[in-house]
Amino acid sequence: MTKRIAVLGTQWGDEGKGAIVAQLAKDADYVVRAQGGDNAGHTLYQEDGTKIVVNIAPSGVIYPHVKNIIANGCVLNLETLAQNLNGLNSQLYISDAAHLIFDWHKAFDGAKEKARGKASLGTTNRGIGPAYMDKMQRTGLRASLLQNLSELEQRICSQVTQKNHELQALYPNSTLLNAEQIWANIKPLAQRFAPYVTDTSLLLSQAIKDKQRILFEGAQAAMLDIDHGTYPYVTSSNTTIGGILTGTGLGLNAVEKVIGVAKAYSTRVGEGIFLTETEPYTDIKKITRGTPSLTHREKAIVRSGNIDHQEYDKVVTRYIREDADEYGATTGRPRRVGWLDLVVLRKAIRINNLDSLALTRLDCVDGIGMLKICTGYKHNVTNEIITEFPNNHSLLEQYQPVYHIMPGWRNSKDIRAFKELPKDARAYVKFIEQSLDTPITLIKNGCGLNDYIERKKVW
Ligand code: IMP
Repeated sequence: MTKRIAVLGTQWGDEGKGAIVAQLAKDADYVVRAQGGDNAGHTLYQEDGTKIVVNIAPSGVIYPHVKNIIANGCVLNLETLAQNLNGLNSQLYISDAAHLIFDWHKAFDGAKEKARGKASLGTTNRGIGPAYMDKMQRTGLRASLLQNLSELEQRICSQVTQKNHELQALYPNSTLLNAEQIWANIKPLAQRFAPYVTDTSLLLSQAIKDKQRILFEGAQAAMLDIDHGTYPYVTSSNTTIGGILTGTGLGLNAVEKVIGVAKAYSTRVGEGIFLTETEPYTDIKKITRGTPSLTHREKAIVRSGNIDHQEYDKVVTRYIREDADEYGATTGRPRRVGWLDLVVLRKAIRINNLDSLALTRLDCVDGIGMLKICTGYKHNVTNEIITEFPNNHSLLEQYQPVYHIMPGWRNSKDIRAFKELPKDARAYVKFIEQSLDTPITLIKNGCGLNDYIERKKVW
């Protein structure tokens, strides 16, 4: 029986990893975050239907029986952690080697993005890149300091002096940091979380010996991986399988099964290449949550399945954005929406050696007349078709997606068995499986904790 599973994003994040983890966590002993920070936004629905969003807390925090670990590969904002745990009765452990995020990291994130102007990366402004920079240049402050308040205070003061010099030199218009204020905010949080700080690598290796069930919860996704993603439009950690091992201090056999999470379509937030996108990002940025962006006539186009209509792709993806509430869980930004891209998934499967996929938000494409799935990219001049996503993605500016077109279906909600899904929904799932030679073992067809179809036992 499987004891240790990793759940990883396969696209550009926001695939619904939190929901998959929350569902599997019911039967887990541990849920572990190994990389990233509060740039993530994992939306969870508790048993009573209450929605919560966690950013740095592992998604097991909704269950009192689960031990939640923030492992060494994470960058940790204590304020966000406190917010995430508000009102919950959770068990928590923090690695003494995890790096802390401070106000100066956020200040640099904001200042750098501003200075980049039109070439900005569209970061979440949570200080993630600067915190990992400090870690890599060996000047970061680790969570072990939470257990030594006088040293923490002193290190904060000297960091603030240094960071103010750098801010003044590089971004003269920035507001300078105030060490006393930062310490006043951090001190109570340090006191609160110090008892949870421990060597989580040791804890986890003991848990493995004790045959405990461990769920490794990926944050962000393959296309945002610092090495394998669409660099530089990526995050600053390894979001792929290697990040789980270095991010926890466990060896190769720690993970027995790797599940990739993919939405039934694609989304991306922030800048960077996105071939199956259907309208310019500049137009999407103007959309605000809660303001309907589709007329009745446009909704009729969505249902009609008339792919020859020149607006079809655009209105379908606008329909998905509204129907699926595709707005950043962390930032509230409207997400870019496009058709499902198998070239992207193929890469995620290869670099993570995925055993299976969990397909999420199948219900969010209910009611669309015709669906497109990108199977390859075709060169504008030579007509050459490629099916592997290149590392040098600037090459892709000369390519267009090649689509396989499939009929849509009316409703996939409230169904608990694969064979009961509409015929065309089953065909959609099977086409993805066959094209990628990877089974889809879980299907999410609603927001609720129990809205899923388990085709094969996961644990
Ligand atoms: P950062 O991680 O805040 O530095 O942002 C770098 C890029 O990763 C930006 O394009 C963000 O929008 C994106 N990003 C970071 N975290 C997430 C996430 O959890 N979901 C989706 N995109 C993310």
